[in-house]
Amino acid sequence: MKILGTGSALPKKVVTNDMLSEFLDTSDEWITTRTGIKTRHIITDERFEDLATEAAGRAIDAAGLCPDDIDYIVCSNVSNLFITPHLSSIIMGNLGMKGPLCPTMDVNAACVGFVQSLDVCDALLATGRAKHILLVAAEECTRFCDWTDRNCAVLFGDGAGAVVLGQGDSLVASKITTIPMPDVIVYQNPMEATPFETREGIDTHSALVMKGREVFRMAVTSAARDIASVTADAGLTLGDIDHFLLHQANLRINEAIRENLNQPQEKFPTNVQRFGNTSSASIPLLLDEGVREGKIRRGDTILMSAFGAGFVSGIVILKY
Ligand code: COA
Repeated sequence: MKILGTGSALPKKVVTNDMLSEFLDTSDEWITTRTGIKTRHIITDERFEDLATEAAGRAIDAAGLCPDDIDYIVCSNVSNLFITPHLSSIIMGNLGMKGPLCPTMDVNAACVGFVQSLDVCDALLATGRAKHILLVAAEECTRFCDWTDRNCAVLFGDGAGAVVLGQGDSLVASKITTIPMPDVIVYQNPMEATPFETREGIDTHSALVMKGREVFRMAVTSAARDIASVTADAGLTLGDIDHFLLHQANLRINEAIRENLNQPQEKFPTNVQRFGNTSSASIPLLLDEGVREGKIRRGDTILMSAFGAGFVSGIVILKY
């Protein structure tokens, strides 16, 4: 696997903490000190699928390819109007691909979806199943939230990041783990009633509910433990890592991980202050920004680390 190009897209509407405090019992001071978040981009009149396609198109351009060069599309997505058809098939149509049309697949691994998809794509490329994979991570997290619940609504934003992957040996190491903990972060879809279902409460739809402190603790513990061990197992030291791209859920989580690893701040780019938690899109958004600003260069060693509902934790180390 090798990253050939990156792209991203954000909704145009920027919502500040002060704007939220107009209808929620919250404040810029609370949100900033507890999370680091100052603003987030939220979809208004855009279509989510178009945002995802925009990020995809930019990654294909950056790779110097055209849509018909893509022979596999993988989409990391949790929050989307359509359970079916899957988002990757919608993106294929939006890109105007003429064919021969290729496989499409969506991955739901919550906020770890992009990192886990990289691991899957590496296998597809290594076995020759694909030559050019478009991997898009696109999330409309703000549609999960109860906008009367200050515990969740202030945390999230919408966005999309994408990469085009080609054949190569850039993947240095990966480790994806799941601990089944079905109640730490939960969102239930509404389901249609049937005349046969008799269990109580099974169709109850609820907006996102989260055990914030537990997630915080598990995120710091799992990331600090796995980052150190995966790096060592790959025969590297933490000093060999040029950029730590951590999932952007809370600046305090990232700061705790960084302090635990005892690494300098400049190796830990952040976007949570501007974008909020964009779930699986947060790392490809960081990557694309780093590449466009010239901070991430060819040959650099990147460690990506994410955590999320499941509870899933994932690490990938690769050469850019
Ligand atoms: N504005 C003002 N007060 C708020 C608030 C808001 N937006 N949200 C919660 N509060 C209140 C709570 O009601 C609570 O009040 P109480 O003490 O009167 O009951 C108080 O602030 C403290 O809440 P607490 O949950 O202890 O705060 P915290 O320091 O743990 O921060 C999170 C809460 C959610 C920011 C933090 O736990 C977190 O980021 N966890 C990880 C979440 C995450 O990463 N989720 C996504 C995973 S991908």
